[in-house]
Amino acid sequence: MIETGSPAAQTIGILGAGRVGTALARLALAAGYEVRMATSRAPSEIELLLKIITPGAVAATAEEVALGSDIVVLALPLFRYRTLRPDLLAGKVVVDVMNYWSPTDGRLEEFEGEEASSEVIQRFLPDARLVRSFNHMGYHEIEGEARAAGALDRRALAIAADDSIAHQAVADFIDRLGYDPVDAGPLRAARNFGAGTPIFGASLARDELVGLLGAASESAT
Ligand SMILES: NC(=O)c1ccc[n+]([C@@H]2O[C@H](COP(=O)([O-])OP(=O)(O)OC[C@H]3O[C@@H](n4cnc5c(N)ncnc54)[C@H](OP(=O)(O)O)[C@@H]3O)[C@@H](O)[C@H]2O)c1
Repeated sequence: MIETGSPAAQTIGILGAGRVGTALARLALAAGYEVRMATSRAPSEIELLLKIITPGAVAATAEEVALGSDIVVLALPLFRYRTLRPDLLAGKVVVDVMNYWSPTDGRLEEFEGEEASSEVIQRFLPDARLVRSFNHMGYHEIEGEARAAGALDRRALAIAADDSIAHQAVADFIDRLGYDPVDAGPLRAARNFGAGTPIFGASLARDELVGLLGAASESAT
């Protein structure tokens, strides 16, 4: 469990072993993290898949992922969010990478309003320390665009969170994976880098991202 002054995260848990989950898993493994992954299937059903596409990642149950990881990444389709267990994620640092896309998720009224989808997820997981990030880049870019700290072409990723300790833990994770973390503000500010914004899908350096987030929060006030 991450608390002030505790050592950095060592184990990353990923719920979802699809396009985003496996790309993040490979990058985290390459950065030296231990990685546990779960889907809605039994671990034995994904062991071979993980061995081939994310060698080194351990197949686990959702319960093992939640309880045994310092940071848990939600990389499942958004329409399946109600299958998450709020009790297991209570107190955990949880990164929400899920986007609402009605052609694949179906129309979900709770995500049709002005709120960021992560605000809805936070209500469903009231005791999770929810952080929004990674959602504004494509799965196919996750590994190829990672760069060492200080590289001139290092891409920046926005982070929105209400919990400052969780925010810092995820900022450290992002930096270690190869991206510049940029504070976008509280969870509700995740709207500023959601689908349809200039940030969504754009490969931006830190200064560019800071500028666009600043402009978005000014126009929202
Ligand atoms: N694709 C992108 O470029 C991209 C970029 C940013 C964000 N996102 C968002 O990231 C999320 C995942 O996208 P994706 O493209 O990686 O999806 P995907 O390829 O369809 O993979 C989804 C994974 O989630 C698993 N899953 C389903 N229900 C689950 C549950 N209850 N617990 C744990 N795992 C579960 C699925 O396995 P089983 O069905 O076998 O359980 C599958 O392994 C989506 O919300 C998407 O909007 C996607």
